[in-house]
Amino acid sequence: MLSESPEQPAIPPSWFAPAALPLEVDFGCHRGAFLLAMAATDGTRNFLGIERQSARVDTCNKRIRRRELPNAFAVRGEGAQALRDLLPDASVHILHVSFPDPWPKRRHEGRRLVKEDFLLEAARVLRPDGILRLMTDDAAYFAEMVALTKSGWSEVAWDDGIARPMTTFEMTFRKLGKVPFQRALSFPESNPAIARHQSV
Ligand SMILES: C[S@@+](CC[C@H](N)C(=O)[O-])C[C@H]1O[C@@H](n2cnc3c(N)ncnc32)[C@H](O)[C@@H]1O
Repeated sequence: MLSESPEQPAIPPSWFAPAALPLEVDFGCHRGAFLLAMAATDGTRNFLGIERQSARVDTCNKRIRRRELPNAFAVRGEGAQALRDLLPDASVHILHVSFPDPWPKRRHEGRRLVKEDFLLEAARVLRPDGILRLMTDDAAYFAEMVALTKSGWSEVAWDDGIARPMTTFEMTFRKLGKVPFQRALSFPESNPAIARHQSV
């Protein structure tokens, strides 16, 4: 079920129509550098940014309007609940989660985005051929991502032949000589009923 917030415009409903363009989601899209660059170079897909900070969402949408990109849009949303509220079953081709906040202190680990509930929702919103792309510079968080995706998920090649720009944080880390950890995953048993069943 799609929720319509009075505070923000809704995602264009045509993006979820049967003949809609393939949908990529950039979760934690920041101010939209990656989202806009992708949308500008690939008019055959729609690009949705989800971001918890309203000011960043506004900046994204201002930039999208300025560049007149019909295939990009950003909405405010937070964590697994955003996927639950905003995205129908099997609607997403690629879900990008790039440099989610690492919360390195042990007592803050519970605040991390990539947890069981988020992954269950990711499995629900991905199409059967959909891909989750995780990228982080934090070794401990990456190890947790690997452990959490051991069951149900299958690793696929990171390089899928699509040339993508770097995200803002990727650029920053690479300039510092750091190489990010990357993991692309499919959920072969992708079945909304299973995911919903698991989440109750
Ligand atoms: C470290 S930045 C990475 C930004 C961008 N993905 C990149 O790679 O350049 C993390 C972004 O995710 C957003 N964010 C953090 N936790 C979130 C959550 N639970 N739900 C939605 N957005 C979140 C932050 O506000 C921030 O814009």
